[in-house]
Amino acid sequence: MTKSTDELDAVHRSNQMWGKRPDMIVRGRLPFNAEPPPSVLAGNEITAVDTFYARNHGPFPDIPADQWRLSIDGRVDKPLTLTYDELTTDFEQHSVVATLACAGNRRAELLAVRPIPGKDPWEHGAISTAEWRGVRLADVLAAAGVRREDGLHVEFLAPDVAQEARPVQSYGSSIPLSKAMSEEVLLAWQMNGQPLPRAHGGPVRVVVPGYIGARSVKWVTTITVQPAPSENYFQALDYRILPPEADADTIPEGEGISLSSLPLNCDILVPTDGEPVTAGALTVRGWAIAGDGHSVERVDVSIDGGHSWRQADLRPAASPWAWSLWSLTVDVEPGPLSITARAWEDTGVTQPESPASLWNPRGYGNNAWAHITASAI
Ligand code: MTE
Repeated sequence: MTKSTDELDAVHRSNQMWGKRPDMIVRGRLPFNAEPPPSVLAGNEITAVDTFYARNHGPFPDIPADQWRLSIDGRVDKPLTLTYDELTTDFEQHSVVATLACAGNRRAELLAVRPIPGKDPWEHGAISTAEWRGVRLADVLAAAGVRREDGLHVEFLAPDVAQEARPVQSYGSSIPLSKAMSEEVLLAWQMNGQPLPRAHGGPVRVVVPGYIGARSVKWVTTITVQPAPSENYFQALDYRILPPEADADTIPEGEGISLSSLPLNCDILVPTDGEPVTAGALTVRGWAIAGDGHSVERVDVSIDGGHSWRQADLRPAASPWAWSLWSLTVDVEPGPLSITARAWEDTGVTQPESPASLWNPRGYGNNAWAHITASAI
């Protein structure tokens, strides 16, 4: 039997890799969700576009730049609608190197503690860094005459529809106005010097450095300044840390801790879990990132289960909003290998030791010590 055009289109779309490298670990085809193998993230401050993780709750909208419009309304004195040409020519342009990290990155380690039904087992790769270029959200809000009242929030809405949301709705999110007015928050149309690909929110997305990736809304078309956080499913219900005993399916809106700033975190990218390595000198590589506005001061590495630690070489971060890459060459004996890493930030704080202490029903915010096991031959 011949397939209908719609069926063929669906098959075609579900096979699409959206320009990503073929060795991406695909978590879902439609919506498209994929993370790079950890080793390909190692050593590169900027992640290539074909390697950058993709996290989506619905199919990608297809919005030609000349048809895209952005409306800014709510608590503003001059509501605005901007075209792509106006956004890209009427405001001063800025670039920022920023790491995007999904709140579900490293969920696999939480899943090993207790099951988390219905959530993808993201491993080490739902994090990547790009140079974003666009205009400051603050400048666009100022042009709309934003009111500077205390406690306001800025909501971003996009047209992609998420079937998983309750009720089914398009994607949205919000951030406090105080963060929205910070110079690092951009409305971006370029990624690593290229036009923003459709898979990453082209023609225009929000980039909120220092916050979980969920707040960097792609294909943004409406911005509303309002007195309370967004009531969108992805702000009011999802992307929250629920108490361990809560039932994620029945919990009411607004319960749990709404995620915003990224916590201090680090991970090991090389070697990979389970990878056979050669005994002798082994260079361990990874990334570390500090909480919003802080800096990573030190990364410790242990190859004896945390009894003794050595300090890794830490490369300076490309910006206050980007990861710091680190490496350390250790001498390994043949046999089982256990590597642990932990970062410290400028407040003197380090990461919690175990994922078990962080387990939560939706599997977000795992910032436990990084740990991998392998064997040396
Ligand atoms: N924006 C829209 N419109 N729809 C989405 O599904 N996913 C969010 C965020 N912005 C999402 C979105 C999540 S959960 C993350 S982690 C980042 O986009 C991922 O951005 P990326 O796919 O460019 O890596």
